[in-house]
Amino acid sequence: MKILMVCLGNICRSPLAHGILEHLAAENGLDWQVDSAGTGNWHVGEGPDRRSTRTAREHGIDISKQVCRLFRISDFDEYDHIFVMDRSNLSDILAKARNAADAQKVKLLLGDAIVPDPYHDDTQFEPVFQMIEKGCKEIIQKLK
Ligand code: 4NP
Repeated sequence: MKILMVCLGNICRSPLAHGILEHLAAENGLDWQVDSAGTGNWHVGEGPDRRSTRTAREHGIDISKQVCRLFRISDFDEYDHIFVMDRSNLSDILAKARNAADAQKVKLLLGDAIVPDPYHDDTQFEPVFQMIEKGCKEIIQKLK
């Protein structure tokens, strides 16, 4: 199974989703490949936001080695499922879909709820971690 996590900057939410799902997959003995990407290019080549790295570390997950990259069209070929954090990520990625098969791979991580962008609010990283972890646990249950 190959799963891609997508948000706007690829420094706050999707790196957490990437690290959490990778961690849960390993705990469950699943040979899954997980990656993350962003729709915006501001932080390409950088590591995750320190607040995400710290929050993940507090939960025993190391995301410090991840490197920010842009979503690319070939991700539709490469990945079985593409999970996005909010509705603007959803419309940005769906706008790039070449056909119905591409579009069917794209879903909100939380089904019909969104993971809000914590970038401008330090207090939101832990709640965002919790939301993403819940979504990742559901993915494990559904797809394992
Ligand atoms: P993310 O948060 O989409 O969860 O990575 C953001 C990080 C940076 C920016 C926007 C959102 N930015 O505009 O730089």
